Amino acid sequence: LQLDGEQIKLAIQKDGRLTEATLQLLRTAGLQFESAKQRLFSVCRNFPLAILYVRDDDIPEYVADGVADLGIVGQNLVREAERPVEELLPLNYGHCTLMVAVPRESHIQAVEQLAGCKIATSYPVTTRQFFQERGINVDITTISGSVELAPTLGVSTAIVDLVSSGSSLKLNDLVPLESVLQSQAALIANPTTFKDEQKSIKSIILNRLLMRLNGVINARS
Ligand code: PRP
Ligand code: ZN
Ligand code: MG
Repeated sequence: LQLDGEQIKLAIQKDGRLTEATLQLLRTAGLQFESAKQRLFSVCRNFPLAILYVRDDDIPEYVADGVADLGIVGQNLVREAERPVEELLPLNYGHCTLMVAVPRESHIQAVEQLAGCKIATSYPVTTRQFFQERGINVDITTISGSVELAPTLGVSTAIVDLVSSGSSLKLNDLVPLESVLQSQAALIANPTTFKDEQKSIKSIILNRLLMRLNGVINARS
């Protein structure tokens, strides 16, 4: 079991919202590999691909760096990335919405009323852009987790966070105000890895992988 230059490296979420559906997609595409458990990576038995198990938040950066050639991650995190990665294929699962939300008992009923207020989020880039486009001046506080707690703790008036089933909002007595971004899982690539030589080994492997993934996605829809 080792990593070498003859494989392409795909980073996926180690443990979270997208993990199960991602593993299922790869297995349905015919790839054979040991499941994550304590491992940091596994190498496919029947395809020149190594799968790296990492935090979803780190995936765009790893792909931009070339630490991984490919990644599967929510478009929400791709939009936040500091450096560009290429989105190759939307995968039609992991659908969610980045939402502005406020406490249920709040007097706020529209985003315009948030002018001058503090907003807590793990998505500062997308959030800043949203409020700037509306011409609403807000004070954005970046926190990396448990954003739903921020209003209760008095840290912010509103939050901008992902909503999937909606249960996290409900559990924290928050209600959605407005949608900022629709998202789903996507396959992303390092912008140069596959460009340098069109006929490089990595490009050939990528095309074979894309054919397999497209096969699964088309069969599902
Ligand atoms: C998101 C978000 C909420 C939760 C919403 O976290 O931060 O906590 O999912 O889902 P729900 O509407 O079904 O309750 P996510 O798992 O995407 O990423 P994280 O673990 O990196 O915060
Ligand atoms: Zn995360
Ligand atoms: Mg979360």
